[in-house]
Amino acid sequence: MSDKIILTGDRPTGRLHIGHYVGSLRRRVELQNAGDYRRMFVFIADAQALTDNIDNPEKVRQNVIEVALDYLSAGLDPEKVTLFIQSQIPELTELSFYYMDLVTVQRLQRNPTVKNEMILRGFGSAEEEADDNRRGLPVGFFTYPISQAADITAFKATTVPVGEDQKPMLEQTVEIVRKFNAVYGPTLVEPQIMLPDNAACMRLPGTDGKAKMSKSLGNCIYLSETPEEMRKKVMSMYTDPEHINITDPGHVEGNAVFTYLDAFCRDEHFGLYLPDYANLEEMKEHYRRGGLGDVKCKKFLEKILNQELDPIRARRKAFEQDIPAIYEILRKGCEVAREAAAETLSEVRRAMKINYFDDAELIAEQAERYAR
Ligand code: TRP
Repeated sequence: MSDKIILTGDRPTGRLHIGHYVGSLRRRVELQNAGDYRRMFVFIADAQALTDNIDNPEKVRQNVIEVALDYLSAGLDPEKVTLFIQSQIPELTELSFYYMDLVTVQRLQRNPTVKNEMILRGFGSAEEEADDNRRGLPVGFFTYPISQAADITAFKATTVPVGEDQKPMLEQTVEIVRKFNAVYGPTLVEPQIMLPDNAACMRLPGTDGKAKMSKSLGNCIYLSETPEEMRKKVMSMYTDPEHINITDPGHVEGNAVFTYLDAFCRDEHFGLYLPDYANLEEMKEHYRRGGLGDVKCKKFLEKILNQELDPIRARRKAFEQDIPAIYEILRKGCEVAREAAAETLSEVRRAMKINYFDDAELIAEQAERYAR
């Protein structure tokens, strides 16, 4: 068994979609099943979700169970992985508070995620600040990279499987770890990001071909999607606008159907569902030449997606029958997680020398000074 500690999480702002699945969730289940780790934590980042959903706490609250159902349905096993809810671990807020001394306002402003959000919310222009439609940026959002560093370091995570969008957060965490260890002595563990190994999985586009799946764009296929809903979405997917007649040559780059195939298709799928080709390369070649219709490609994709999602749907149905049991799984997970975080926190306090009542040396030295 290796010394790896794997940790990752998701904001509960909606059900998870197949972009989350190929970007990270499928990888987590593989890591879990490979068993090559010391501990593995997967958590629901409800407190982080509140940093930009302050107007909608009920949405966050309702989606905690949705994300938990998605985790369990995808195959995460609570016997092997600690599943927990971020807000139930108060140690994380205390760590964040100490880390805040190690990060400058200027550095946070340079964090690409924070920077983009600041631009979006109208910073830097008096005219825009006066616009009532813009609400300014909550301090909690501004500092969430610090809180994410607490999430990761509290569990001494070595390996963080996430999407590319989380790169700035991991970089910020590594900086905090180095700074902490330089100031207070070696205490925290430097984490490594683990990205998907295929470009299509890294950033699965929406069904409309737009850069990212997002709930507000209505271009997602959810893990819990019924086969009927999914068929409609696949059949209306964006392909190649220049591929009008079947005989026209087609483009596979920027064609969402082929990007999804890149993320989901394996050679054995051809034997099962489309024996005209031996592999995806042959199929792409035919599409490029002309003579391969979009409907045929979409039907193939639909079969592959169903093969992957059917077991997930079946497990979801079973888990949905006992919601209290899922809260029980999360409650137990929170207990285990708290214990791990508390251990790190006490090491942090010791390193920072703010563990006064355990610091016999400090007390003795001061007593001696005053006795003189
Ligand atoms: N920021 C992540 C997201 O938006 C969620 C998250 C919070 C996270 N804390 C984390 C992911 C720690 C990995 C590690 O999905």
